[in-house]
Amino acid sequence: MVHLPPFALDHWLSTYDFATPPIAYNLASSTGPRWSVADICALGDAPLAIDDTILSYAPPEGSRALREAIAAFHDTDPDSIIVTTGASEALSILFCLGAQPGANIVLPDPGYPAYEAVAQAWGLATRSYHLRREDRFIQRADAILAQVDADTALVILNTPHNPTGTVMPRIEIEALAAALAERGVPLLVDEVYHPLYFTAPQPSAAGIPNVIVTSDLSKALSLPGLRTGWLIDADADRRARIIDARSYFTISGSPLLERLATHALQQSDAILARLRSVAQANIAQLDALIAGSGGRLAWVRPDGGTTAFPWFTDGRDSRSFCQTLAAQGVLLAPGDCFGHPAHMRLGFTQQEEGLATAVGRIAAALTAI
Ligand SMILES: Cc1ncc(COP(=O)(O)O)c(C=O)c1O
Repeated sequence: MVHLPPFALDHWLSTYDFATPPIAYNLASSTGPRWSVADICALGDAPLAIDDTILSYAPPEGSRALREAIAAFHDTDPDSIIVTTGASEALSILFCLGAQPGANIVLPDPGYPAYEAVAQAWGLATRSYHLRREDRFIQRADAILAQVDADTALVILNTPHNPTGTVMPRIEIEALAAALAERGVPLLVDEVYHPLYFTAPQPSAAGIPNVIVTSDLSKALSLPGLRTGWLIDADADRRARIIDARSYFTISGSPLLERLATHALQQSDAILARLRSVAQANIAQLDALIAGSGGRLAWVRPDGGTTAFPWFTDGRDSRSFCQTLAAQGVLLAPGDCFGHPAHMRLGFTQQEEGLATAVGRIAAALTAI
């Protein structure tokens, strides 16, 4: 039987977010402010009508219209794009195709927990490169390359990074991808938090030789309920195998969701403007929270993305603190969900209103420990 460990982060999030009523202040989620179907359809000069959508299968690689909208978002070729059921399916397909006997995959620690669990479930060994808070969580090419060996099938880079918010500049991604090309190893750049940057804006990694990009509508584009992700891969042979894998796994996406997704991407400026405004306002409040914590909490201010990964400076486990706050209606994610118990993940872009109240409760709970 394949071993899949319990997904601690999703258990924690579901317990509070799918409760009735849901948690009042969600600072644990990694997505953006919420949108309804009506909100999305109404965006733009020509509102979207979806009633006439035929509920057939979609093409396994995604509709042409959606692939063109994704290509415009990444400034790349629509033919290089394959639509998937969230970035999750894209990752699973890549791990499945890479899982030769003895093969390994190189991934970040801390990192999105599904990388390790799903890769191992497909039979890949995992090797981690470490993002150290003493080094501002920077993802360094030399540390990544040090983990690569003759059996490495794939290297994962996640930028902007979940949970730390660190960003690798495109010029460094190009150098890393070139170094990996010499060893015959593709670089997967998971950019689901692109293009949310707080310091220097970065272009997408799409188009860099030897790079496969994964992304989605769930994170920066704030629409996880559309379950729409994609892969961008210039390698036509690998794309053919990926499309076959998709046909086997899920057959296709939903034509209804693909139409909504296409419209959302065409209106991404409005969606991103709302996200950026929530992010800017909320990150300033988190700055004040950390500065006023009397040294109990420290953080590396994120350079991008929707989450930060502060920690207790005395090294205590954050879970009971997170439980206390959850009982008061404020949801943070305990760092043990990422294998780092003294940390906590703060998602600062979903909560459009009420952050001052939530931050006030966190500050009060800090003084009580
Ligand atoms: C870094 C990263 N990649 C991929 C995913 C998968 O998201 P989805 O399947 O909604 O696209 C997530 C979800 O949290 C994530 O944080």
